[in-house]
Amino acid sequence: MSIKRWIGFVVLGLAWGAAQAQPDYIQAVEQARPDPETLAKAREKVKKHKALKIRDDIDAKLPHFHRRTEKKVTQGETFCQICHLPLPHQKSVRTRAFLNMHSRFVACATCHYRPQGKALDYLWLDYRSGRAVAGEGRLRTGTDTPASQPLDGWVKIAPFVENEPVVPLPQDPWAEATARRWRESGLEQRAELQARLHLPLEEQGPKCSDCHQEERPLLDLERLGVSREQARLVYRHMIPQFFGRYRDQDQKIRIIDITQ
Ligand code: HEC
Ligand code: HEC
Ligand code: HEC
Repeated sequence: MSIKRWIGFVVLGLAWGAAQAQPDYIQAVEQARPDPETLAKAREKVKKHKALKIRDDIDAKLPHFHRRTEKKVTQGETFCQICHLPLPHQKSVRTRAFLNMHSRFVACATCHYRPQGKALDYLWLDYRSGRAVAGEGRLRTGTDTPASQPLDGWVKIAPFVENEPVVPLPQDPWAEATARRWRESGLEQRAELQARLHLPLEEQGPKCSDCHQEERPLLDLERLGVSREQARLVYRHMIPQFFGRYRDQDQKIRIIDITQ
């Protein structure tokens, strides 16, 4: 074989290798080495974790207009929902309703996977196709007419690197293998898996004001196809501003304080 063809092969091989690169989050999980203390904590969490049950029989018991149209029963769109409920926040009574509401249009990873020093792109991800889609007409704030796109949870703002979603979709082979391993494992292996899956994640998530601010918002809404006026209404929304006034976990603020 000529040297030129050889070089051609090598270049092709490298390009293919790069195209096959694993999503960023998978790489982080594969490299995660939880220490004994993290593993011990994970064991306790896994023991307490209530397994999700997918209800196959539910449709028959509902009036027809509540029945799901799609036969395939999934409990959610994102990888995280293999184990977590679509409305995963329960602990903080103050914030849970808001955070769960956001989970319909913001991916879990947008709030929980923010590795230091890594530039992530935020795009609207369609979980059915695995592709980025246009953002026009997806937000509701400040519009009198209903948003032109349905708010069905299938399209969310998610982190990307080089045009690929950072977290695999639930139907990705790696995600399916992870789900199988979780189902079929005993406590020790589950604890190890839980620890590795969560080591790259942030337990706390961003503050309301990380997104609801004009200076350096976590999500640049205009880049996400939102008009300038609508973006400003979201950044300046009164309710998340109000949350910024809480000094500690137990402080109570009366609604009337909002107006002051
Ligand atoms: C294989 C199962 C599984 C998957 C997949 C999974 N989690 Fe979890 N996660 C758990 C369990 C078990 C806990 C312990 C608390 C509980 O029962 O909810 C937990 C806890 C958490 C916590 C609380 C902090 C902590 O470490 O206890 C956060 C935040 C979290 N998960 C986010 C995510 C996000 C975001 C994803 C997707 C990128 C994800 N999880 C994927 C099983 C999973
Ligand atoms: C808009 C940002 C945001 C999104 C989207 C989000 N989270 Fe969270 N999450 C948070 C914050 C902030 C906390 C910290 C505690 C709090 O204020 O409740 C948290 C806490 C948690 C916890 C701790 C336990 C609890 O009961 O609160 C789990 C588990 C969790 N998130 C899982 C998820 C999963 C799974 C998804 C996707 C289905 C998700 N989160 C989407 C911001 C978010
Ligand atoms: C990851 C970014 C992000 C975080 C963190 C975040 N928000 Fe939001 N929030 C948004 C976006 C984007 C919208 C616009 C939704 C729309 O218009 O459809 C929004 C909309 C809202 C709305 C208006 C909802 C409506 O239907 O008009 C409220 C209220 C709100 N957020 C409260 C909060 C509170 C409270 C917190 C903290 C507990 C919080 N947000 C954290 C991004 C975020």
